[in-house]
Amino acid sequence: MGEGAHRLLVIGDIGVDLVLGPLAQWPQVGTEVLMERSELRAGGAAGNTALAVAYLGGQCRLLSVTGCDAAGRWLREQFAGIDAQLEECPAHTTLSVGLLHACGDRTFLTTRGHLEHLALPLLRRHLKPAGSQPAVALLSGVFLTPALRRDYPALIEELRALGYAIAIDTNWPPQDWDAALRAEVRDWIGRCDHVLLNELEVRRLADTEDLTAAVGRVAAVLRPGATLAVKLGAAGALGVQDGRRCQVAAPRATVFDSIGAGDGFNAGYLLARLAGAELAAALAAGCRAATAIITRFPRRELQAGELSARPALMAAT
Ligand SMILES: Nc1ncnc2c1ncn2[C@@H]1O[C@H](COP(=O)(O)OP(=O)(O)OP(=O)(O)O)[C@@H](O)[C@H]1O
Ligand SMILES: [Mg+2]
Repeated sequence: MGEGAHRLLVIGDIGVDLVLGPLAQWPQVGTEVLMERSELRAGGAAGNTALAVAYLGGQCRLLSVTGCDAAGRWLREQFAGIDAQLEECPAHTTLSVGLLHACGDRTFLTTRGHLEHLALPLLRRHLKPAGSQPAVALLSGVFLTPALRRDYPALIEELRALGYAIAIDTNWPPQDWDAALRAEVRDWIGRCDHVLLNELEVRRLADTEDLTAAVGRVAAVLRPGATLAVKLGAAGALGVQDGRRCQVAAPRATVFDSIGAGDGFNAGYLLARLAGAELAAALAAGCRAATAIITRFPRRELQAGELSARPALMAAT
């Protein structure tokens, strides 16, 4: 891998996803439903971001773990061509079934498994200094990696000492929000340079339904110079940096499978930032990347087939 891979470090969850749809209604217990469309693919927030970076023609380094079973070996193969350090853990590989509902929403059913083994001592073996160029470490999917979650403040400080700016996308906490969780997340984001959340996560973190007020409250926790980027689904994204706010629209698209939308956004946004883009241009790059990825189904077939789309995606930052 070239030097570029070390400018974007992605740390977090990877897993095996079986994506199925469309599901018109929740099945009755004891029945069987045939799914018209399906794909078995690598997933997890960190996995999706690493694959999105590769799709966009960028480079990154991925630090994660797999289980010690056939699914784990298959999962590892999906990251061939990416600078991925995936340690094998004494556990079954985490599996997710992603059900795509006809209304556009989705449901995940996820097993416990190897992700519970991702921990700071294991990551430390692979952490290297960032080098002389600007570099970002993205921390993804913390709530699926409970051992690493306990050491998140230490991980952030160690990465910072190695010269990385820190980006974070927590995703939705399966246990929902309470005062202790809000305090924990506020502590993390106060240490980060790019906070990449969706609208609902920002509302719940700030404990208000009013998005403008919620963005203000979360932005108040940021370090000077840090950015809050809020993903707004089909409406695009908004951002705040040093009190300046801007909003960009997402390209219009027909979407069957929006899984990984936020992770694709993170890839496009961070590659643009590393290329020197200002806030609005980076938000727009994030939206373009997300749309380019989620309008494809299955993802893998088209990843290989649409190389011509890449220069256009990267050029417009
Ligand atoms: N239906 C859609 N049509 C067009 N673009 C979309 C649509 N849904 C998502 N996007 C694009 O994907 C980006 C991220 O999506 P979203 O706001 O759903 O993030 P997220 O909730 O973090 O995603 P995830 O569920 O993957 O964590 C949006 O900013 C937008 O650019
Ligand atoms: Mg998200």
